[in-house]
Amino acid sequence: MGLKGLDNSDLKLLIFGGKGGVGKTSCAVATAMSLAENFKTLLISTDPAHSVSDCLGQKIGFQVVKVDGSPNLSAIEVFADEALSVFISAHQAELKKLLETSTNLDNQDIEEMLALSIPGIDEVMSFKTITDFMEQGEYDKYVVDTAPTGHALRLISSPKLLDDWIKVAARMRWKYRYMITSFSGSYQHDDVDVLLLSLKRTVKRIENILRDATRCEFIPVCIPEAMAMRETERLLSILASSGIVARQLIVNNVMVSDECGFCRRSKASQLPYLTGINETFRHLNKVEVQRFAEEIKGLDALNKLKMCLFE
Ligand SMILES: Nc1ncnc2c1ncn2[C@@H]1O[C@H](COP(=O)(O)OP(=O)(O)O)[C@@H](O)[C@H]1O
Ligand SMILES: [Mg+2]
Repeated sequence: MGLKGLDNSDLKLLIFGGKGGVGKTSCAVATAMSLAENFKTLLISTDPAHSVSDCLGQKIGFQVVKVDGSPNLSAIEVFADEALSVFISAHQAELKKLLETSTNLDNQDIEEMLALSIPGIDEVMSFKTITDFMEQGEYDKYVVDTAPTGHALRLISSPKLLDDWIKVAARMRWKYRYMITSFSGSYQHDDVDVLLLSLKRTVKRIENILRDATRCEFIPVCIPEAMAMRETERLLSILASSGIVARQLIVNNVMVSDECGFCRRSKASQLPYLTGINETFRHLNKVEVQRFAEEIKGLDALNKLKMCLFE
């Protein structure tokens, strides 16, 4: 059974996640290619390892480029570090002023502020780039490939982290405002207030999209091995508690060949995990993808993978 429901025109954002090396990038790229047959699609890589470029055999960078051989498909790399430095350089003055005005406040506020730094802001800024694209509405589908080792989880938890920081900052501002009003009788909203308000709006926008089951779907990728299975369980439970929908699970690298002793032994060793995956994730539509002899690189290999994903 292949991936289902992705051609629903309300569904805009697909996020691929899972353990490192399980096939997230390959599956995200093949899915984007398949969607691009009917929809104008933007593939967004958030993995600094440039894996989408490697997979496609085409240089993808910080500007949107058309993907060769797939007329409706474009791709871009969006990295948290990069997005953060753009944000910092655009708002250095306001951030400095926020801290300067806070020196009039009590020590507890300042310590709280400094201890918190700005958690989650890098991921929020990279996600903002994605939601900005979505709001411009140039594409019908947005396919996001995430980096391994908890990156998808950071991406999911970052709006909440930043929201906590905004609350502390807003409380400090409120005291500052009270003080100014007491001295001068009135208070004018300044650029720091504008920045905090716009950050708050950004967080809300991201949370709204992530939690909207009609617009956003998370597609976990795993392989029939013990560690990958455990990580998938953890990922799915965090997605569920964050209100982000996952309807299907890609089970990659499944051995199908019986032709040699190695193949037969690999196949036998996968069997208990495949059974476990079917039981543990029985509520999800499982899509099994065979282990190919060659890695997934270039359009021919991606087309083969695409057929497996959407057969
Ligand atoms: N079904 C498959 N058969 C053979 N090789 C695969 C398969 N899926 C992925 N690969 C290869 O495994 C490696 C890791 O895949 P990748 O998609 O980059 O994983 P991730 O993005 O999860 O780290 C790549 O070299 C890729 O070509
Ligand atoms: Mg990858």
